[in-house]
Amino acid sequence: MKNCKVRLDFDEIEEIGQEGKNSKVFLAHDNQLDGNIVIKEIQKKDGVPYEEYFKEARLLYANNHNNIVKVNYACEDDDNIYIAMPYYKNGSLKKKISESNYLTIREVIRYSIHFLSGLNHIHSKGLIHFDIKPDNILISDSNEAMLSDFGLSLYTDTYGFCSAEAFYTPHVTPEQLRGLHQTIKNDIYQAGLTMYRMVNGNNFLYAQIPTTGTPPAFDNDLFKENIIRGKFPDRKLYLPHVPKKLKKIIKRCIEPNPNDRYDNTLQIINDLSSIDENLDIRYFKNAANEYWEYPKGYYIYKIELLPKADKFDIKVCKRKDGRTTNCNTQCSNNIDSTQVISKLEAIFALSYE
Ligand SMILES: Nc1ncnc2c1ncn2[C@@H]1O[C@H](COP(=O)(O)OP(=O)(O)O)[C@@H](O)[C@H]1O
Ligand SMILES: [Mg+2]
Repeated sequence: MKNCKVRLDFDEIEEIGQEGKNSKVFLAHDNQLDGNIVIKEIQKKDGVPYEEYFKEARLLYANNHNNIVKVNYACEDDDNIYIAMPYYKNGSLKKKISESNYLTIREVIRYSIHFLSGLNHIHSKGLIHFDIKPDNILISDSNEAMLSDFGLSLYTDTYGFCSAEAFYTPHVTPEQLRGLHQTIKNDIYQAGLTMYRMVNGNNFLYAQIPTTGTPPAFDNDLFKENIIRGKFPDRKLYLPHVPKKLKKIIKRCIEPNPNDRYDNTLQIINDLSSIDENLDIRYFKNAANEYWEYPKGYYIYKIELLPKADKFDIKVCKRKDGRTTNCNTQCSNNIDSTQVISKLEAIFALSYE
């Protein structure tokens, strides 16, 4: 048998992985292939056995699927492990759901079905991902969501159990906090949180992390209690255009008791496929205003929420070929803040009749 120790030759172009905590991720030029790739560089740690070095790369390679990021090769030098991957220039789902760019319900369903398909594939092989979150879902050149970052993934025992070695605090699960064994339902919970962030925007979840004192500091005890009791995140707090069916799906994913959650990702995919309301409404929010837009017939409708003193106006306009043809504020003037959500929900319910 011939054993080849080979030499690789790539130049770092720029760091792209500011979202990652455990590695350095950079765009590189592979001089031998003469093309751009992405390198994930992971520092070797004392005490980690050699077989563990390539664990993440091997998992990616062994779990090849349309909705899981590809790996080109893996290698090492004295200090680091390097995982070479294709460059997904659209970046992560987290980047997509940054405050200024809300997804439509159709986009949420589409991306969710993609990443859940990737997740279903690894679950069928007895692997738990343990780090499902928008930063770890990349968007391919054909606009498909791809599951990535298998740094925390573990195979279950023959009973389907195992225990994560680490977690990302906002996505920690009730069973992890209670010190129980974990199953694929751990990923289902995190998939639910990911969908919650996709429909409501990223900061919506972070804003619910409890704080205490002045200056405000993270309230760890209350945070844990809220997760175990199913109060983080708030199951009733949603943007008004989010369909009931989708809220129900997310709720069932993030049930505090794993037995009450979906049994597998295919069931979630099935339920997502049946949503047919408010698919193309897009929410916009900036420093100046807050509004929703959707196409209906020849028109684009714009529903604007206008704050005035302690009340709100809702303005409904429609436009065609860039020209606004009709505006209506008659029925929605001077609304109390407590009525805003139900008023908007009623308008959106009419939008798809
Ligand atoms: N192949 C890739 N193409 C484009 N961006 C990537 C790629 N791999 C990782 N990234 C970016 O780098 C970030 C960190 O990568 P990740 O594998 O999640 O590392 P970590 O284990 O440190 O979290 C991702 O959230 C994403 O923004
Ligand atoms: Mg990551």
